[in-house]
Amino acid sequence: MALPDSFKAFVVSETPNGDFQRSIVDRQLNTLPDHDVLIEVHYSSLNYKDALSGHGNKGVTRHYPHTPGIDAAGVVAESQVAHLKSGDSVLVTGFDLGMNTSGGLGQYIRVPAQWVIPLPPGLSLKESMIYGTAGFTAAMCIHRLINHGVTPDQGEILVTGATGGVGSLAIALLSGLGYKPVAVSGKADAIPFLESLGAVSVLARDEAEAQAEKPILKARWAGVVDTVGGKILSKAIKMTRYGGAVTCCGLVASPNLSLTVFPFILRSVALYGIDSAECGRELRQVLWEKLAGDWRPAGLAGLSREIDLNDVDNYMARLLKGANQGRTVVKMIAG
Ligand SMILES: NC(=O)c1ccc[n+]([C@@H]2O[C@H](COP(=O)([O-])OP(=O)(O)OC[C@H]3O[C@@H](n4cnc5c(N)ncnc54)[C@H](OP(=O)(O)O)[C@@H]3O)[C@@H](O)[C@H]2O)c1
Repeated sequence: MALPDSFKAFVVSETPNGDFQRSIVDRQLNTLPDHDVLIEVHYSSLNYKDALSGHGNKGVTRHYPHTPGIDAAGVVAESQVAHLKSGDSVLVTGFDLGMNTSGGLGQYIRVPAQWVIPLPPGLSLKESMIYGTAGFTAAMCIHRLINHGVTPDQGEILVTGATGGVGSLAIALLSGLGYKPVAVSGKADAIPFLESLGAVSVLARDEAEAQAEKPILKARWAGVVDTVGGKILSKAIKMTRYGGAVTCCGLVASPNLSLTVFPFILRSVALYGIDSAECGRELRQVLWEKLAGDWRPAGLAGLSREIDLNDVDNYMARLLKGANQGRTVVKMIAG
């Protein structure tokens, strides 16, 4: 594959007065880190973590200038390992991509071979980014509920941050698998969207937070996919049925969690932490194959909008305001 000298990338820079500026610049290939596999990125996507990196969150990205993008799908351009060949279609999500390693919002990335997953049969590069880290994380949460023994006949599954990337895909995946997802959303006008994904009902955010301080509440949920933390997660745990399971992956509302031990010692509720970034290769491959096959929700393409690099700044700001709905795929090369 012929390589260009330079490529377009979304770059975040720190100014001397501590502000952060975002622009699209031409970068040289030799500014990418020295790893095994060079990938021409065809699609990336936007996740909450990308918006944090794009706005100078040093918990995500320590050093600037930096190109965010925790997701990338594209074609191998150069490889120093035998099992990945020039021209192979691949995807990378998580690990350090887009955090302190130049990310998928550049037209090229260079990454360690162990981060690279061959694109599973049945999935296009674009579809893999409709899922992206959000869909993969939703799949990890659902895989955890299934392994715990939560079955569709046991009752409703609460999904919080429901219009967001993880939440919307969790609802679509759960519904496709025969579960009854109940959505929590702060967006009153998003009820038709949530119902179209398969939500059996929608709770307003206020309702999902009310009485969160009580030690235990009437049991309702067979399982929970929580993306927001704080009071909503606290209440969800207190409303989980005997032997049920709660998965916790996000903190858009709060990183705090106020609880007593009652849900655990009176109802045998399990709380599972979910981290997609460092998920092992074996489970990664299994879940990507499920997402490409049996788990693929109806109307996957309709769950996303497509933007290009010029729109990224605007969509990052929406993510930070909690105004996001569904998934945002970023087209990285013309044509
Ligand atoms: N652990 C992992 O591996 C992993 C992987 C991916 C994402 N995450 C985390 O999961 C969270 C969601 O990520 P995402 O990409 O889905 O983000 P997103 O697209 O921005 O979705 C977040 C959703 O949360 C809701 N929300 C926003 N502010 C809120 C608030 N103050 N209180 C309650 N709900 C609020 C909104 O939905 P409604 O308006 O519908 O309520 C929003 O659309 C983030 O914290 C992210 O860092 C973790």
